[in-house]
Amino acid sequence: MRVLVTGGAGYVGSVSVERLVEAGHEVTVLDSLVTGHRRAVPAGVEFVAGSVGDRAIVGLLLRRRAIEAVLHCAARSLVAESVREPALYERENVVAGEALLAGLGDAGVRRFVFSSSAAVYGMPQQVPITEDAPLRPINPYGDTKRRFEVALERAAAGAAMRAVTLRYFNVAGASAANGEDHDPETHLIPTLLGAVESGQPMTVFGDDYPTPDGTAVRDYVHVADLADAHLAALELTAGVDPGLLALNLGSGSGFSVREVLSAADAVFGRPVPHVVGPRREGDPPALVASNQLAREALGWSPRRGTLVEMIGSAWAWRQRHPSGYEG
Ligand SMILES: NC(=O)c1ccc[n+]([C@@H]2O[C@H](COP(=O)([O-])OP(=O)(O)OC[C@H]3O[C@@H](n4cnc5c(N)ncnc54)[C@H](O)[C@@H]3O)[C@@H](O)[C@H]2O)c1
Repeated sequence: MRVLVTGGAGYVGSVSVERLVEAGHEVTVLDSLVTGHRRAVPAGVEFVAGSVGDRAIVGLLLRRRAIEAVLHCAARSLVAESVREPALYERENVVAGEALLAGLGDAGVRRFVFSSSAAVYGMPQQVPITEDAPLRPINPYGDTKRRFEVALERAAAGAAMRAVTLRYFNVAGASAANGEDHDPETHLIPTLLGAVESGQPMTVFGDDYPTPDGTAVRDYVHVADLADAHLAALELTAGVDPGLLALNLGSGSGFSVREVLSAADAVFGRPVPHVVGPRREGDPPALVASNQLAREALGWSPRRGTLVEMIGSAWAWRQRHPSGYEG
């Protein structure tokens, strides 16, 4: 299959590109490099620098490469930034995405997989979260993901597109070649690795949640497991009826911040330096996926689900890239 991966120079996109290439697919990456890294794209994969909102570039490359399916990972994805700059998130995650969909319509590309987020659920009433839970995002980032899902559903109905929206929970870990290199870094595991490296304590945001140990509970899914799910979802779009299918991608297990820290203590043989601070506004006590639908629809299950695998692979990548991709 000839696949366009938008955001393929980013964390999730680059590991998925690796997986698609390994499975024998022909991959083209379109990335503006606003948060991604040119070096994350493997040699032999065509790289096009540009925005998904650029109709001319998108139209040209869909036709020139005779693209059959799109994996749309490109987005802005920092919650705090989205609160400060909602218009930027609207432009990049919704308007640019809609331009991409229009380009696909023009070129007759009818297979689409979208990187969505558990942020579409907001504060869930029930855990584990199933796909039919109400979509009530509580920040502009989550709202742009929800609104793009609406646009995608409309496009799927109008253009007989077969689309899958994958709602990721917390992505973690690394492949041998690619890992997480974000600035600022807001995710727990790379943040704790930074604390181990520098000796500067990291902050645990809140220990008074209604959870067994008081810290927030999250569902961590290995980035390589996510890449397997992307491949399966792209394959699924060959055969299903037109429309939009929503699937949660998580391990189905929740770990508290303290449990993640204890796993890291075991990996490093010493405690991760940390202090406890106040809760962050808008952080739900627990976010855990029901992954039953994804298991059934994709024939997928997480194979690298332990915290030690996620922390260990992220640490190994960091050791090989002490200054990130640009080092
Ligand atoms: N990492 C997570 O834990 C997580 C969780 C839920 C959802 N997601 C979603 O997964 C996707 C990938 O996340 P990530 O962690 O790899 O982020 P990332 O920032 O590492 O990757 C995003 C990539 O998209 C590119 N990009 C951004 N806007 C673009 C545009 N308009 N045109 C072309 N390229 C553009 C960036 O340069 C970057 O390479 C995002 O859609 C994000 O919302 C990630």
